Amino acid sequence: MFEVATTKVHDEARQGEAYAPFDNDPNLYQRRFYIESYGCQMNFSDSEIVASILSAEGFGATRNFEEADLILLNTCSIREKAEQTVRKRLTEFRKLKKGRPSTLIGVLGCMAERLKSKFLEEEKLVDIVVGPDAYRTLPQLIAEADGGQKGVNVLLSRDETYADISPIRLNSNGITAFVSIMRGCNNMCSFCVVPFTRGRERSRNVQSILKECQDLFDAGYKEVTLLGQNVDSYYFVPDETAVDNTIPGDPAIKPGVVNFARLLELVALISPDLRVRFSTSHPKDITDEVLHTMAKYENICKYIHLPLQSGSTRMLQLMNRSYTREWYMSKVERIREILPGCGISSDIIAGFCTETEEDHRDTLDMMEFARYDMSYMFFYSERPGTLAQRRYEDDIPLEIKKRRLQEIVEVQNRLSLESNLKDLGKTFKVLIEAESKKSKEHWMGRSGENKVIVFPKGSSNYKPGDYVHVKVSECTQATLLGELV
Ligand code: SAH
Ligand code: SF4
Ligand code: F3S
Repeated sequence: MFEVATTKVHDEARQGEAYAPFDNDPNLYQRRFYIESYGCQMNFSDSEIVASILSAEGFGATRNFEEADLILLNTCSIREKAEQTVRKRLTEFRKLKKGRPSTLIGVLGCMAERLKSKFLEEEKLVDIVVGPDAYRTLPQLIAEADGGQKGVNVLLSRDETYADISPIRLNSNGITAFVSIMRGCNNMCSFCVVPFTRGRERSRNVQSILKECQDLFDAGYKEVTLLGQNVDSYYFVPDETAVDNTIPGDPAIKPGVVNFARLLELVALISPDLRVRFSTSHPKDITDEVLHTMAKYENICKYIHLPLQSGSTRMLQLMNRSYTREWYMSKVERIREILPGCGISSDIIAGFCTETEEDHRDTLDMMEFARYDMSYMFFYSERPGTLAQRRYEDDIPLEIKKRRLQEIVEVQNRLSLESNLKDLGKTFKVLIEAESKKSKEHWMGRSGENKVIVFPKGSSNYKPGDYVHVKVSECTQATLLGELV
């Protein structure tokens, strides 16, 4: 979790300038909003859409919730703990609202969708509840709340993609940005609440994606991450009559299907200086065509987040992941074959329903096989309404879940270190993102493989957004250290 506050308005972002003054200018905006985001990158990306909708209504942003007229929490339901964090935060806002009753408090995102108007019964201080597909109605809901009513809209949509809304970049470094390419998920993994909170899968219009990426590049951004719960099922059929021939890179998107591989290619063609990343790939859906497209373009980063969840075929079946242990292994082999040196990371769940020690060992074994550079690791948290909650008993005691998780974390820590040790002596092309948090004398950037690299600025005049070559000389488990070459 981290806090987000608007630091840029779109026009200024276009010029690549850091947004500065309106925080201190009370005359510019009549009302201010404060927004905090929890959960996945999709939620952070949605907050940028919300910021855009509010700014069109004359709302300015503030980083200080105490001076906000509207406080928004963009929430996550993925695990119980994520929801607890939001509840705790709401108690802090309760104090503020006591002193200033006109302050409106709104809950957005997945928890709003999951709990719907129940939220208003449980948390009386909340004025507005808006689900992920209803952000366009925020202005009406705010008006209702101003009038003393509660504003609720949790309708899910089959076609909303906010394609025409230019996000206002929040807390941006001006170099890297997220671009949503699709919404929702049709996969129904049995443990997962996302299909219920985000609705059916739908792909965003290819033209609007390309335009957003081009605008970012024109504004000085050097990296876009294409976002979706399952990017490999991106599928869009452009309307022939709507073809906009002005899009650089590929002047004519021919009528016909744009799948994810084609979309990647179109974004990569915007400029060789624009790096392209994507997340998340589902192991059952990532195709050879995508891997070959990655190989073809230097600016498509050689990094794949390929969530395993479990290394046991029996668990994978209960999880409804639609692949087996062997299928996953063959995917990893295929990646290594087509993209040697490609970074691979994973999501892993410990202690899913009925998991035995043998299933758990299968997960540890698979981690060794895949040699993940990094993983996000969780213990299973039962979510109301999911298939697993309805069908299976959450029968693994918490201590066992935690112990297995700890073993998974230990394996990953060793694999991460081993992976970094292998990079000693190698030279990487690095995109400088910012000054190192620990030292003003160092830059921090990433390799295409998504490794964080820190190196001394030296006497060079490089700046964030520049590409440099860095030779790795030392490492920790989390970071590579090197020298400019
Ligand atoms: N769409 C992505 C994942 C989105 S959720 C994908 O399919 O890979 C991010 C991660 O949270 C999941 O990959 C899973 O590892 C974890 N997760 C989801 N539901 C969970 C639950 N009920 N308990 C614990 N972890 C969960
Ligand atoms: Fe959840 Fe599975 Fe969809 Fe990922 S693919 S969001 S884990 S249902
Ligand atoms: Fe959380 Fe919703 Fe994302 S549940 S992980 S914010 S899609």
